[in-house]
Amino acid sequence: MAKIGIVIPAAGQGKRMGAGCNKQFLKLRGQPILAHTIRLFEESCHVSQIVIVGAEGDIPIIEELVHHLAFRKVAAICQGGVHRQDSVRAGVQALSPTIQRIVVHDGARPLLTLQAFHNFLSETEGFTAAIMGIPVKDTVKQVDLSGKVIQTLLRDSLCAVQTPQIFDHGILEKAHYKALSAGYYGTDDASLIEWMGCPVQVVMGMQENIKVTTPEDLWLAERILSMRDVRGSKSEQET
Ligand code: CTP
Ligand code: MG
Repeated sequence: MAKIGIVIPAAGQGKRMGAGCNKQFLKLRGQPILAHTIRLFEESCHVSQIVIVGAEGDIPIIEELVHHLAFRKVAAICQGGVHRQDSVRAGVQALSPTIQRIVVHDGARPLLTLQAFHNFLSETEGFTAAIMGIPVKDTVKQVDLSGKVIQTLLRDSLCAVQTPQIFDHGILEKAHYKALSAGYYGTDDASLIEWMGCPVQVVMGMQENIKVTTPEDLWLAERILSMRDVRGSKSEQET
């Protein structure tokens, strides 16, 4: 398998969480959300290097967290920017040039599992750009600013996109560089690849891989972890 580096954008402000601090330091099972996210990649035998991107004021807290939890694969903790895209670009620049494939994964998605990540790596081998997505459950409508419906979108063709997203090092670097020069901003990294006219492959994501965004998500994340405990002890009893 190619040499894989991880970029974890964690430089947001968590405004929708309304916790008065970066939501990634809120605790899930007694540990910061960000610690759960880093641990998954630390434990993956396929990952060579991790770069974490933090807001300026949060960098000492992240350094302390990495030190305290003895995460050995963290090669750099660098400063993010105003938009998520600026943060990811900073992270990509901090990775070693020897990294062949880059995985971008939101710091705020602590519930990805090692098995799902490894499935993702094998399913996306051979694609220069690939992302996790899940079928949309709700009907989605396009509406104007006054709330009036413009059209109902065809649900079968819609998918809700998650991270991880994986890219060949060269294409992601080029996409970020070009977008910066053109002043183009997309809502995820794959959209920069699409903007360059290059293909992006979607593979099946994970319902439980939620992005912790609002207070209800934190509650939900705790429930998901409890559900995994129950599943784990049931399968132990069965063996
Ligand atoms: N992120 C980042 N740099 C930014 C903005 C976001 O690294 N300038 C990161 C966040 O820390 C998060 C991920 O991108 O891990 C996804 O962003 P989101 O869920 O929107 O987090 P926040 O921007 O922190 O939340 P909000 O939009 O509610 O303020
Ligand atoms: Mg945001």
